[in-house]
Amino acid sequence: MIRTRLHPDKQSAAQAIAREIADLIEIRSKSGKPTVLGLATGSTPLPLYAELIRLHREEGLSFRSVITFNLDEYEGLGPDHAQSYRYFMEANLFGHLDIPKSAIHIPDGRAADPAGECAAYEAAIRAAGGIDLQVLGIGRTGHIGFNEPPSAVDSRTRWVHLDEVTRKDNSVFFGDLAQVPHGALTMGVATILEARRVALLAFGETKADIVARAVKETPSAGCPATWLQRHQDCTFHLDAAAAKRL
Ligand code: F6R
Repeated sequence: MIRTRLHPDKQSAAQAIAREIADLIEIRSKSGKPTVLGLATGSTPLPLYAELIRLHREEGLSFRSVITFNLDEYEGLGPDHAQSYRYFMEANLFGHLDIPKSAIHIPDGRAADPAGECAAYEAAIRAAGGIDLQVLGIGRTGHIGFNEPPSAVDSRTRWVHLDEVTRKDNSVFFGDLAQVPHGALTMGVATILEARRVALLAFGETKADIVARAVKETPSAGCPATWLQRHQDCTFHLDAAAAKRL
């Protein structure tokens, strides 16, 4: 079952989730354990990342014991490309924190051997002890990470073909649809479901239909976010507009 939590606005949602992350880091680091975070890109988590940076700067929250795994990366885009997710994460989060560079993991969209890269990514998540908290957004196709429909419940980290709806939605960042890659490397549905806790964020009216489908439809590969219903500890953090069809 998916729990839904309604927030007055995206800033309040960001504060609540940032507090949850801060508490997790503080509790785990007291007993000498790292905190493993799964992270998303896109517009939705930006207020959350701004709040984490504020907690670091103004309240002394340290990320020295944090290990991160991002969900996905575009095929062919390297760290210097302004639309690569590695660049995005550096600009919007990592570059402002005290997280060790060696603790940051993002799939390499330029890997010569994508299958090998994906297998190594899964192995690195396991070696870190698994993901404690996975942050997700949701695409209008029902994708989580870049698991476009159809994506099986047992899918693992792999190369995927991007849906045209997703390419169009993301073309606002590239300025031109032709520049948006056709493929990506993404954590699989099974990889995401193995995280011990999942926090999905969705704000605004454009997400209302897909949020309702994810929560209410029978789980199927045709709407990959429905697989989250099988998770034991998954919360959708919504504003009123995104929750309006629930
Ligand atoms: C990003 C990701 C995607 C986005 C989704 C929503 O790493 O994996 O699933 O979370 O496409 O994107 P925004 O937040 O831009 O609406």
